[in-house]
Amino acid sequence: MPAAACKVVVLISGSGSNLQALIDNIAAGENPANIAAVISNRGDAYGLQRAQAAGITTRVLDHKAFSDRESFDRALIEAIDGFDPQLVVLAGFMRILSGDFVRHYQGRLLNIHPSLLPKYKGLHTHQRALADGEHEHGCSVHFVTEELDGGPLVVQAVVPITQGDTPDDLAQRVHAQEHRIYPLAVRWFAEGRVRLNEQGASLDGQLLAASGKVLHPLDT
Ligand code: GRF
Repeated sequence: MPAAACKVVVLISGSGSNLQALIDNIAAGENPANIAAVISNRGDAYGLQRAQAAGITTRVLDHKAFSDRESFDRALIEAIDGFDPQLVVLAGFMRILSGDFVRHYQGRLLNIHPSLLPKYKGLHTHQRALADGEHEHGCSVHFVTEELDGGPLVVQAVVPITQGDTPDDLAQRVHAQEHRIYPLAVRWFAEGRVRLNEQGASLDGQLLAASGKVLHPLDT
């Protein structure tokens, strides 16, 4: 009998293009993950429609209905754990998570961030990279720890910055790479190849460098 698929819950707040990339990757037979549910803190998130179109269970948990972060996060944990996932994937989930939440999912919580971490934590990463005159930018998948955008890196993709780029040009270029590295990181986790241990993130039993695995535009 084949091994059971790795159950994943995906958290979103918006468009869900990274969710779509994962759905497509799984549908193409390239990824042993199985999305058990998509949970959004916003009822109008377009990603909910993407999930429904793929026949995936959705839930909306509106943070505005809760008096504080801790009570929202407790309800979120309850909703997620109802699906008994091995992995929780943050895909444009625009909420800062409490320490209790992050500790609860230690080693099984991934995030994608639109910069080459540790550069440009936080918001407006494309504008900031352009303003600094950077020649390269990119995106990073990392395990989530209590430090915002600071957990051990799994994989990064580098994109060039070219003369005259606008923040939108750069956002598009980075997004295309996000859609490549997030399904890859989830696949590695689902295959049991990526793990978080006390020293950091490892791939195939080898501790990853601080940058994680780095992919350049021409890498396959
Ligand atoms: C991505 O840029 C991701 O890096 C950031 O939020 C955005 C989500 O985009 N964390 P989408 O909803 O997946 O299209």
